[in-house]
Amino acid sequence: MTVYFIGAGPGDPELITVKGQRLIRQCPVIIYAGSLVPKAVLEGHCAEQVINSAELHLEQIIELIAAAHHRGQDVARVHSGDPSLYGAIGEQIRCLRELGIPFEIIPGVTAMSACAALLGAELTLPDVSQSVILTRYADKTAMPAGEELASLAQHGATMAIHLGVNHLEKIVSELLPHYGADCPIAVIHRATWPDQDWVVGTLTDIAEKAQAKGFRRTALILVGRVLGNDVFSESSLYRAGHAHLYRP
Ligand SMILES: C[S@@+](CC[C@H](N)C(=O)[O-])C[C@H]1O[C@@H](n2cnc3c(N)ncnc32)[C@H](O)[C@@H]1O
Repeated sequence: MTVYFIGAGPGDPELITVKGQRLIRQCPVIIYAGSLVPKAVLEGHCAEQVINSAELHLEQIIELIAAAHHRGQDVARVHSGDPSLYGAIGEQIRCLRELGIPFEIIPGVTAMSACAALLGAELTLPDVSQSVILTRYADKTAMPAGEELASLAQHGATMAIHLGVNHLEKIVSELLPHYGADCPIAVIHRATWPDQDWVVGTLTDIAEKAQAKGFRRTALILVGRVLGNDVFSESSLYRAGHAHLYRP
């Protein structure tokens, strides 16, 4: 018996991995994060039990898993995007380890990848930014020391800010001194869902633009000079005259 933590991807049911889909179709118990995982991801399942974890607390989830373990039934624990990011799988894994219940994590397409794809952007352009910081807005979960937005912003790297759309003005004020008023920023709402929408602007006008759209939940903020930028060097990888292992 194994618990499979499966990344469902950002919304589009075709953006789950082949392995994740196969396991969902095989497992007799499915527990899915219904607030962000569309039911369509579960299509083709033949599970006896399909439970939406949005209505449950941690102990209830662990009880369901422990009961499946007792019956010798595999569990598909389906999380949005990639389970390793803001998925709260850490606390579940800790309980499973204490109970001696085996688990495996099946990665998924994270929201950041889906948003970059939607914008037609590479997040790591030579000379512009070679690092991406994935972070969140500190609301109920406080940021550890040194990870405050203003502190991360000092790097000027491409940044993906989760769970922050309702605090856009505050976020902009913390980014501004480091990125500059003309720095491009995008807010992407429900990327890959049928109602996906987005706005692109600068740190000067994004708050107003996003407010006009009425984005409230499930939106990612992408900021950095890689967005809409055509002024950068070509990579060594495809440069004629640059030899490497596969192109001597
Ligand atoms: C609890 S976190 C889960 C992140 C997820 N594990 C991942 O890898 O994308 C939820 C936040 O991720 C972002 N998010 C998730 N799905 C999204 C989507 N389809 N479009 C835009 N942002 C999304 C939003 O910032 C949302 O508030």
